[in-house]
Amino acid sequence: MTANTPIGIHDLSFATTEFVLPHTELAAHTGVDIGKYHIGIGQRAMSIAAADEDIVTMSATAAAPLVERWGTERIRTVVLSTETSIDQSKAAGVYVHSLLNLPTSTRVVELKQACYSGTAALQFALGLVHRDPSQQVLVIASDVSRYEPDSPGEATQGAAAVAMLVGANPALIRIEPPSGLYTADVMDFWRPNYRSTALVAGQESIDSYLQAMAGVWKDYTEQGGRPLHEFGAFCYHQPFTKMAFKAHRHLFSTAGYDLGENDMSAMLRLTTAYNEVVGNSYAASMYVALASLLDHADDLSEQSIAFASYGSGCVAEFFGGTVVPGYLEHLRTETHRSVVERRQSIDYATYRTLHQRSLPEDGGHHMTPRQTTGPFRFAGLSGHKRLYERS
Ligand code: HMG
Repeated sequence: MTANTPIGIHDLSFATTEFVLPHTELAAHTGVDIGKYHIGIGQRAMSIAAADEDIVTMSATAAAPLVERWGTERIRTVVLSTETSIDQSKAAGVYVHSLLNLPTSTRVVELKQACYSGTAALQFALGLVHRDPSQQVLVIASDVSRYEPDSPGEATQGAAAVAMLVGANPALIRIEPPSGLYTADVMDFWRPNYRSTALVAGQESIDSYLQAMAGVWKDYTEQGGRPLHEFGAFCYHQPFTKMAFKAHRHLFSTAGYDLGENDMSAMLRLTTAYNEVVGNSYAASMYVALASLLDHADDLSEQSIAFASYGSGCVAEFFGGTVVPGYLEHLRTETHRSVVERRQSIDYATYRTLHQRSLPEDGGHHMTPRQTTGPFRFAGLSGHKRLYERS
């Protein structure tokens, strides 16, 4: 390895849930004009986890194809980012490590900072590979977003996991060193340990996201980053897809560019195809946008992509990457499309039943109903221990 050996995303795979609730079905219950969902926030459907799915099953489903294609020999670290943690002590990635039969000589850890943590995991992985380029890091971002029923946030729920193999001489994206960083102590969105749904100050959260975009851009420029016009595409965190357009407009005006609506939609529309039918997948969301871009653009070889990551609370980061020629051969476009299309549509009543489910806390033996048809399932709880199995 020389100082110039590229490091970045070698492979990327995403997974979502068994069920999907179309926004037309939600609108029939809430009485909200469907235009608000389809156009106002840019969402058409949301992924809903089955009773036997969670961040672990989605993570294992997303990561299994990477392990199958590249083997496990070089993976010495697994970092799983989530804000839907299933245990206050044990890292969810340890269950994933077990389901994927990864070697015992692996370090596994969990990261949290709202929707930003997937980017922290990627950056930490780049550092580990820089230290030893023979190693690869399995980065996973996995979340199930839940708001109170009948709250404004409800229409932005969703769930997904993205798994990325990070290594030297990557096949997909070379990540560049300059990063623009921004942290501010704000209460725009949070979830205390005793709650299963998030609390959010809707408009404040949008304002905080936009302020963070200005902050990361200022720092990115000071760190010697590229001028904005060099980027051919932009992947934003997408709590709802319209937010990417708001952020893009704000970033360009902060940087002193005048951006026409047509330019903007051409640049962004390819990044929103999966998120508009999956919903907010928190830590995974920006990387679901990347999957969508790679799967839907003609040929991005040697194009620079900007990444703008935001996590409430708040931490944000802006960085760039370049698409590696030959990347098209490594994409998983058909699988990704089928991941979205295979979901079973559910009605509003079924969604509410799933939303209301909570796990028994008595330490007894409780099996979950078999609902998922995916490769891994959360089989139940016994003696306060979570049980997972291959389907
Ligand atoms: P709301 O307040 O009910 O919606 O909820 P609204 O009244 O602001 O309307 C939304 C948009 O729809 C508006 O457009 C309306 O004009 C339009 P805008 O002014 O924004 O361009 N609209 C219509 N358009 C067409 N036809 C119609 C129609 N009616 C209205 N008939 C809100 C919106 C986003 C606040 C809510 O969904 C919410 O609270 N969501 C959760 C919080 C959130 O997603 N915040 C985003 C930034 S924070 C973030 O990204 C972090 C996060 O992912 C968490 C983490 O980091 O872990 C959330």
